[in-house]
Parts: sequence; structure tokens; C-alpha cells
Amino acid sequence: MSSDLRQAAIRVWDNAYAPYSKFKVGAAVRGASGTIYVGCNVENVAYPEGTCAEAGAIAAMVAAGEQVLTQVYVVAGAEMPVTPCGGCRQKLAEFGAEDVPVTMATTGGVEQHTTLGALLPGTFTAAHMEGQG
Ligand code: THU
Repeated sequence: MSSDLRQAAIRVWDNAYAPYSKFKVGAAVRGASGTIYVGCNVENVAYPEGTCAEAGAIAAMVAAGEQVLTQVYVVAGAEMPVTPCGGCRQKLAEFGAEDVPVTMATTGGVEQHTTLGALLPGTFTAAHMEGQG
């Protein structure tokens, strides 16, 4: 996993808006073009309206005109590397293949490496909607 992705994720982590959970998250995804897109969690006083860092990075990528991601990096300031929530796994799977590498990290430098397929086995895809009666 390249250090530019980590640097981008850490930079955006600093901008996270997390006054309620106090848990800031930064995410960086690399589009197929090589460009890096970033996002951070943005919480809201109406708690369910908050958005995850991964969702922000995906939105930035799609808004820029890209729809395929090839690498994911997620970072938080806790002791344990942060793992994408269930909803974000599904959101990432919409734009990335099963073998896309995902690094889950801490700001302190601990990293865990996995893939989108390992994070979401049996992913619901458009294929599941074919042939409906
Ligand atoms: N959060 C993310 O942004 N990404 C994750 O992968 C896990 C959780 C955020 C949502 C909420 O703002 C805070 O972390 C605590 O759940």
C-alpha cells in the first residue's frame, strides 16, 4: 500500500467532524486513474444523519467522474486499526472488485491488510436481481 494513500487519509482524518463520538476517521480511495479521493466522518446532532469517512471518499470519487476504486485506506486515532462498518463495506463493494486491497490503520502506524472480498463475503450484487419472477 503506497504511502501517498496513507498520507492523504491522515491529512483528511484531521478534518473529521466527530463532536459526538469523538472518534475521527479518515479514508482515502484510489480511483482507476490513479487519483486519490478522500473523505472523513461528518457527524450530526441528529445522530443517524452522520456520514462515514468511506462514504465521503466514495462520493468525492464519483463526483469527480470515476466509478472504479483500486485501493482503500482507512485510519483512526484508536489503538486498534479501524474497520469499515457493514454499510461502508457494501458501499465500497459497489465500486471495487473483491481483490481490492484495504488497509485498516491507526494514526500511530499500526496497519492491518485485507481485501474487499474478505470484508464482505457473499456480497449482494446486481447479479442477484437477475431472473426475478
Ligand atoms: N466511522 C467511519 O467513519 N468509518 C468507519 O469505518 C467506522 C465508523 C465513524 C462513524 C461515526 O462518526 C464514528 O466513526 C463512530 O462510529
